[in-house]
Amino acid sequence: MDKLLIHGGTRLDGELRASGAKNSALKMLTASLLANEPVTISNVPHLRDITTMIEILGSLGVEVVVDEKMNIEIHANTIKSFTAGYDLVKTMRASFLVLGPMLAHYGQAIVSLPGGCAIGPRPIDQHLRGLQALGARIEMNEGYVHASVDGRLKGAHFSFDFCTVGGTEHVMMAATLAEGQTVLENCAREPEIVDLANCLNAMGADISGVGTGTIVINGVESMHGCTHRVIADRVEAATYLIAAATTGGRVKVKEAQQEHLEVVLTKLEEAGAEITVDDEGIELDMKGKRPKAVSLVTAPYPAFPTDLQAQIMVMNSIAEGTATVKETIFENRFMHVHEINRMGANIRLEGNNTIALVEGVAELNAAPVMANDLRASVSLVIAGLVAKGDTIVDRIYHIDRGYEQVEEKFRILGAHIERIHSR
Ligand code: EPZ
Repeated sequence: MDKLLIHGGTRLDGELRASGAKNSALKMLTASLLANEPVTISNVPHLRDITTMIEILGSLGVEVVVDEKMNIEIHANTIKSFTAGYDLVKTMRASFLVLGPMLAHYGQAIVSLPGGCAIGPRPIDQHLRGLQALGARIEMNEGYVHASVDGRLKGAHFSFDFCTVGGTEHVMMAATLAEGQTVLENCAREPEIVDLANCLNAMGADISGVGTGTIVINGVESMHGCTHRVIADRVEAATYLIAAATTGGRVKVKEAQQEHLEVVLTKLEEAGAEITVDDEGIELDMKGKRPKAVSLVTAPYPAFPTDLQAQIMVMNSIAEGTATVKETIFENRFMHVHEINRMGANIRLEGNNTIALVEGVAELNAAPVMANDLRASVSLVIAGLVAKGDTIVDRIYHIDRGYEQVEEKFRILGAHIERIHSR
């Protein structure tokens, strides 16, 4: 398993370009199953999760052509199987989202249950209830969801019990080919959902209201091909901005979109960063200062994203003052805390492990660390950048799932970081 070796103590300084959003691109690859013609997705990040999704499409018999610039062309009408197996689905939950598009287009789909994962149990009840509201027959058999419908799905009024990103995307995709109108209430509003809807509309869907709590979908009989460019990855972009703030440095992330990061940028300003936004992207300058601690609560968009909680926790760990960080989305997303504490941080978990009380310390010290989730792992890289000495972050295959060329990008910013390859 590869590791990252980080020699800490350098202030990040430089410019880089945000990659395309992983959490948009993955859903667009599944959405292509709705079309009768080839769909081309561009600005797709070169990541392990994207490769997994391509493998899943391949396992269905779907032809996928990838060029050297990561433009991905999907020919869904070459599909030969409607079963997505356990071996692939268990490695990535987003793969479960092939179910709705296959069901809506071909009337049948058999997809393995995704199961739990390191950050919590993550059920899919809302996905299934939404599909059932559209008339899908759902049966569970030996760990697989068997979904079918005679003819087309039927438009319906459905309200999610709570905000779910995947649930909103899944039911929205299925409803595009349903007969009549679907109204979805209490929808999640993340920018990736808006991006997905724009892609679906370019394929001939009729979706409105996306980005608000109520989405209206007028079903169409068929969908055609399109070319769509994925938005910039707000979580990746903000990870580099937080890393810059943590090290007292200056970083410009080109293509990062201010409107997708408003709450995060406000928190970074509260921490003492100067933020400048122009046509090219977002620049953060800490001017060598130690950050001030900032308290926050994670919640669905537009609130502070759970996917940046671990990274900002590291910033707080070396900040001036005390912060309270509350996680409300996932049950078990504080795995990085124990590792950062091993590097000398002073973080205490309370409230049944949903609240972290972070007492800023003057410095962190290098240690061998590892985590079993993508964002927790990258937070340890940030900890390594600011720590005294050489930190080794193990199990970095998690980082490779979501951060394109992570060590190259940090190196562009002046970090001393290298990958240790192991067999
Ligand atoms: C998406 O996961 C993202 N993944 C996650 O990013 C992100 O953390 C999350 O949204 C929240 O923003 C992708 O887009 C591929 P949810 P998703 O459905 O769709 C519970 C990363 O690091 N729930 O909004 O799975 C669920 O267990 C990843 O890039 C149900 O109970 O998130 C969770 O506690 C990690 N029943 C909460 O809702 C359901 O049917 C929110 O989950 C669905 C969800």
